[in-house]
Amino acid sequence: MVNHFSAGVIGLGSYVPERILTNHDLEKIVDTTDEWIQTRTGITERHISSGEQASSDLGLIAAQRALDDANITPAEIDLIIVATATPDMLFPSTACIIQSKLGANRAAAFDIGAGCTGFIYALVTAAQFISNGSYKKVLVIGAETLSKVTNWSDRNTCVLLADGAGAVVLDAVPFGEGVLGFTLGADGNGGKYLLQPAGGSRLPASIETVKQNLHTLQMNGPEIFKFAVKIMVEVTEETLKKANLLKEDVNLFIPHQANRRIIEAATKRLGFSMNKVVVNIDRFGNTSSASIPIAMQEAFGNGRIYTGDNLLLMGFGAGITWGAVALKWTKQRPET
Ligand code: ACO
Repeated sequence: MVNHFSAGVIGLGSYVPERILTNHDLEKIVDTTDEWIQTRTGITERHISSGEQASSDLGLIAAQRALDDANITPAEIDLIIVATATPDMLFPSTACIIQSKLGANRAAAFDIGAGCTGFIYALVTAAQFISNGSYKKVLVIGAETLSKVTNWSDRNTCVLLADGAGAVVLDAVPFGEGVLGFTLGADGNGGKYLLQPAGGSRLPASIETVKQNLHTLQMNGPEIFKFAVKIMVEVTEETLKKANLLKEDVNLFIPHQANRRIIEAATKRLGFSMNKVVVNIDRFGNTSSASIPIAMQEAFGNGRIYTGDNLLLMGFGAGITWGAVALKWTKQRPET
């Protein structure tokens, strides 16, 4: 099939909960130091949801901001895809919960679970519906409340994880703009390195699973670290080739914010200069599938993205999964 359209971003929104947890706060909870966290991860502080806030609450605010930014109404949305590893509940989907709260009555809605790569998977999925002409306006949301599945006595993970949401509205743009190329990948053999073991059909919730802390995230950090640097380089190079771009054509690289050292190591191997890379992990920690849309929204707001720029978005996460999207920016900057 010949694609006549591509998918471009017409609206951006993000939201992080008000409560900030600093490294110094964490020093009081687990055996760690501000110095260790900053030097090993690049994180200084992160936002943590309140007891009442679920992922859909964060995603809803990000979505409303993205719709306002796009200047469209909920009724114009054809499809809502929510990327999340921390859905409100196993079913109904978080996308359906947000669809109802938004009043996006015409929209189909479903979730995608691809760990921290979720936003990239969702963006690519949305782009297929647009490029084949099935749908016009699609809302893609990454929404996470990782603090709810954090083991607050495990210093290996609790210093990294955070809450937040980011959303984009996609619309049809002429072929050759918007999404220029993408790569998605998975290696299920790596599932053991990052998982939340209980709460599904394998290990339904029981007193034992709660006692053994099996409802919280478990991670083999060093394995993920090594894998992440390698795959970030490979998937970026493959995606640029598919998009017919050279490394020097990339105006801004927006990677998943998992660890500043991972981003720096991959950036060095790719030969990008760090001033072309968006890094905001210092203030937001790892917000999983929300990290890329939050970073994209912030970069646009700070005047780092202009019409015609080539962006490279890249993520990796539980599964193990990975993916990247090359995007030619079409959204105009607001009049100043
Ligand atoms: N404070 C102090 N010391 C710590 C802490 C902490 N918060 N965490 C670990 N350490 C200790 C370890 O116990 C270890 O001590 P030991 O040598 O006595 O055993 C030492 O620091 C070094 O541990 P490493 O694991 O080698 O430290 P590393 O430099 O690899 O950093 C980290 C650990 C930050 C977890 C890193 O491996 C990492 O970022 N990995 C990737 C994480 C990631 O990207 N996850 C995917 C996304 S998460 C998601 O999908 C939701």
